[in-house]
Amino acid sequence: MELVIFSALDGLQARAEALRDLAVLAPSRLDQVQRLLSGERPPDALYMDDSRGVPLPDLWRSAAIAQQAGVRVLLNLYGPARAALNDAQSAGIPAISQADPEAVAAWIGVQLGLAASGGGGRLPVVAIGAAKGGIGKTFATCVLAEGLRRRGLRVLVWDSDISNPGLVPAFRVPTSAPSYLHLIQRGPAHWNPTGIRPFIYAPEHTRGGGEGWGGIDFLIGSHSVARAENDVRLPDWQGFFAGVAAAEGYDLVLIDTPPDYLRRPYATHVLQQGGTVILPAPPGSRERMGVGHMLDHFREHAPERLDHCTLLFMEPERGVTASVDDVAGLFARRYPQVSALGTLPRSPRLASMADEYDGYISMLDLGPHSAFTQASHRVTEALCARLGLSPSLPMPRVSPWRRLVAGLQGDKPAMPAMA
Ligand SMILES: Nc1ncnc2c1ncn2[C@@H]1O[C@H](COP(=O)(O)OP(=O)(O)O)[C@@H](O)[C@H]1O
Ligand SMILES: [Mg+2]
Repeated sequence: MELVIFSALDGLQARAEALRDLAVLAPSRLDQVQRLLSGERPPDALYMDDSRGVPLPDLWRSAAIAQQAGVRVLLNLYGPARAALNDAQSAGIPAISQADPEAVAAWIGVQLGLAASGGGGRLPVVAIGAAKGGIGKTFATCVLAEGLRRRGLRVLVWDSDISNPGLVPAFRVPTSAPSYLHLIQRGPAHWNPTGIRPFIYAPEHTRGGGEGWGGIDFLIGSHSVARAENDVRLPDWQGFFAGVAAAEGYDLVLIDTPPDYLRRPYATHVLQQGGTVILPAPPGSRERMGVGHMLDHFREHAPERLDHCTLLFMEPERGVTASVDDVAGLFARRYPQVSALGTLPRSPRLASMADEYDGYISMLDLGPHSAFTQASHRVTEALCARLGLSPSLPMPRVSPWRRLVAGLQGDKPAMPAMA
């Protein structure tokens, strides 16, 4: 891979050259950079910072030329152009503000999937997003993680909704579990697979189970650490994201995201960085509106990536008059690029039993033959297909007879979609 560096940061070039599989060119003038970009064989990536005292508009112009040529752009605005950090990020450009060359080189490595430790490429990343709380993001994250583990996959679940960490009670995460917020505070130099490993919580109760099953591990931003002074700034989240996506020993990363998508456009960033976004979509009118807001946001900020966004329909609660079918048709017309992953039935009984259970248990184990569990397996299967994963275990199937018995036992089959 070829990287052009435009920087006067002492020692950065040497450190970048130490990254594996990277050839570095470091011209000292911006017109030389632009010539490389518009040449016959443009480089793969361009790193620029504001250490050479070049006016900001000139940096922007080079960034634009690079993007037009299909060159990945990385920005480090730590000096005079620091105030433009937000602009860079909202334009979808990975950007940090960092004066330490060691940390910058590590960040470049992670961004380009070339961690110095010899780490591999990037994992598939799936963000569960919504513009509204209480819509089922955390619920969907739990169900998908459990579904994937039953296919032999190793899942890293990242709780990034730190002001409302629903995964903590759901998976019975103890307060003694490490919090990645401490790691974020240590700075970008530590946001690589080696630095992240000690901050991963790997409970016993989400591994084993059946023969050949995978496991679920967690990155938790514990409540006690999530105080105002530890608020995660967007550039930090984005830098940390790159490190998590390079984590070793997993097949994919699932991110539970917060609903304040304007201030914390995490799902948008995942989409822009080549990941997949799942939007839980209950058919009620407010929920529908929330999904619409989110899709409009994606359409504005990642228009060419809308086809990597998919809707997970959720059966409505009793009494809601809108049906999944109606709403599915509506979204299909308004957002033709956005696909559907499937539909999760509502199973308040299984959900409540899991909540009340003494310790952790998955809904999929409480009602293994239920319509809910079957639907969860189908949705998991659809997700694997989308991501191009080939799970080592087949989709669990249940005979119609077992399903009938389960239904009679009160493990109620799903409500049919309302007409
Ligand atoms: N299909 C479902 N069956 C039963 N309960 C559900 C279902 N979907 C969501 N819920 C419940 O709805 C509530 C809100 O969901 P949650 O995942 O916490 O929302 P969010 O993370 O989007 O804020 C939770 O109590 C969850 O158990
Ligand atoms: Mg939640």
